[in-house]
Amino acid sequence: MNPLPRTVQWIGDLPGHLRLIDQTLLPSEVAYRDCRTVEEAWEAIRVLRVRGAPAIGVAAAMGVVVGIQSHTDSASYAARLKEVSDFLRTSRPTAVNLFWAIERIEKKAASQLGQLAPAELTRLLLTEALAIEDEDRTMCHAIGRAGAALIQEGQGILTHCNAGSLATAGSGTALAVMYAAAEEGKTFRVFAGETRPLLQGARLTAWELQQAGIDVTLICDNMAAQVMREGKIQMVIVGADRIAANGDTANKIGTYGVAVLARAHGIPFYVAAPSSTFDLQIKSGAQIPIEQRDPREITEGMGKIIAPEGVRVYNPAFDVTPAELIAGIITEKGVIRPVNESTIRQFVASLYLN
Ligand code: MRU
Repeated sequence: MNPLPRTVQWIGDLPGHLRLIDQTLLPSEVAYRDCRTVEEAWEAIRVLRVRGAPAIGVAAAMGVVVGIQSHTDSASYAARLKEVSDFLRTSRPTAVNLFWAIERIEKKAASQLGQLAPAELTRLLLTEALAIEDEDRTMCHAIGRAGAALIQEGQGILTHCNAGSLATAGSGTALAVMYAAAEEGKTFRVFAGETRPLLQGARLTAWELQQAGIDVTLICDNMAAQVMREGKIQMVIVGADRIAANGDTANKIGTYGVAVLARAHGIPFYVAAPSSTFDLQIKSGAQIPIEQRDPREITEGMGKIIAPEGVRVYNPAFDVTPAELIAGIITEKGVIRPVNESTIRQFVASLYLN
């Protein structure tokens, strides 16, 4: 397997900066983008230069450090930290990893505020951001190992959007399972839904799997039912942006439709996600904030006008798959199955036991 370039990383020491693969340019160009201000980090998250729930979390944590690192006044350090954190929180609303990572950084700062000088505090925050990145890499690997046994020799697997290396600091979530199964020597075929309107499936998943030498076939989103009926799909694995306490799961728009189709065809539908994607504050999917994006992503996606000027457009970026359609959630600690409030709470509680 060809190692893919690192999706998100910290460059230098302090002062340093955030570097990410500019995913808006893929697959035609593999180029890095450096973010040296918090505004640049915000913009990179907002326009999906970096995207995918875990990668957004890592980028946001490093974005806080970018925004605070030149602040040397003790008296106003906490206020500046709040300003930077609150600003980054406005970049995208749905992936809980963004809020989870920023809160982790804030808690770390709060534990030492008033005791350490600004430079030492900022170093502590950089260490925490790097730990978030490192833990994410480890979680991806563990998700892959936990889910690999679900894939049987010769199966067809449908995935939607990109939940791979480009969406995390490691090998991904849904795609990590595929990478791990491939490492075990299994052969299988992946169908990647193109994922309108921003084409993460076509531009990112198809590219990433092709780079990794995994058998991948690209289909348009509206072909999934036909491909299932033809008997080409034996399982579905997707990622997640936020999982509510009852197991309802927000993921890229179109995921819910795939889950309904999978149920209609008797195909198991799995979600792969790290613990940082669970949000027990939210009881059910109905409360998950769904990002609404610019209508031009639909009317002039990829630079070409494809709809009449002035037409009304609705562009929710995510949808929610109800827990009852999910066969299991593949986590870094194993597969949660069945998916309901009690098994989810049991899983989250187990994280604090060891
Ligand atoms: O809008 P995006 O590209 O950030 O949406 C990404 C997804 O929906 C992914 O499936 C999800 O974040 C899981 S990534 C491991």
